[in-house]
Amino acid sequence: MTTRKALDGKVALVTGASRGIGRTIAIRLGAAGARVVVNDVVFREGPEAAIEALRGVGAEAQVIQADITDAAQVQKMFQQVEAEWGSVDILVNNAGITRDGLIMRMSEEDWDAVLTVNLKGAFLCCRAAARSMIRKRWGRIINMSSVVALAGNPGQVNYGASKAGLIGMTRTLAKELASRNITVNALAPGFIDTDMVRTMSEDARQQALSRIPMGRLGTPEDVAAVVAFLATEEASYVTGQVIGVDGGIAL
Ligand SMILES: NC(=O)c1ccc[n+]([C@@H]2O[C@H](COP(=O)([O-])OP(=O)(O)OC[C@H]3O[C@@H](n4cnc5c(N)ncnc54)[C@H](O)[C@@H]3O)[C@@H](O)[C@H]2O)c1
Repeated sequence: MTTRKALDGKVALVTGASRGIGRTIAIRLGAAGARVVVNDVVFREGPEAAIEALRGVGAEAQVIQADITDAAQVQKMFQQVEAEWGSVDILVNNAGITRDGLIMRMSEEDWDAVLTVNLKGAFLCCRAAARSMIRKRWGRIINMSSVVALAGNPGQVNYGASKAGLIGMTRTLAKELASRNITVNALAPGFIDTDMVRTMSEDARQQALSRIPMGRLGTPEDVAAVVAFLATEEASYVTGQVIGVDGGIAL
């Protein structure tokens, strides 16, 4: 006899999931029973690697290469999922970029690029997902913000603004969609050990470590565990929240 899993029958779409936190979230949701759409704008290890990783936990997966900043590509992606598997039940807006620089040296291009991927991309995906979630009267939207949205970080005026924007979007959408049984929450991870953080200098890394009460960097698994909980039925009364996953750094 096979035991039922928490996300059996659900379709999850994770953006920016070819690597890092998104990849781990995709695997975690797959292990919990969801069929998983792995989205990214580029698959550095090829799309097969993502499919294999999901198969490894017994999950069905499909890979869709699409740029979430392009409304037409986003629409096509959601249509493709709907045609093959039915509509998306769980949307994780994870894709994100950094283009750091102190304000005097920050170009408009760097501002626009970060706001466009981190904020507009999430908006386009929320809009595309909301229609079918409203119809179904069930949905989970989880947005990947950052501790930088709450505490600020020199050199990241674009990133901090985009991640704070995501919190405003989360709270507003939570109110808009609550009556349709759709929850919308944000995570605010601290320093998570991924490629994004590995670009930091050893000095900056040590400095960061000294500020984390738990005394260690977070892992993608730490983040994925909270996403997996928010996606379940048990989290149905949690909405509009910003959940820190940061080892206490924001305290
Ligand atoms: N690593 C951390 O310490 C940390 C902390 C707080 C928040 N976050 C957030 O978590 C998320 C994942 O971070 P990560 O460390 O795994 O980063 P990462 O760079 O390893 O992964 C991000 C992925 O997003 C993809 N992406 C970029 N632009 C895209 C687009 N236009 N369309 C589709 N996909 C696109 C990239 O190709 C990449 O695979 C990001 O939103 C990041 O801001 C990370």
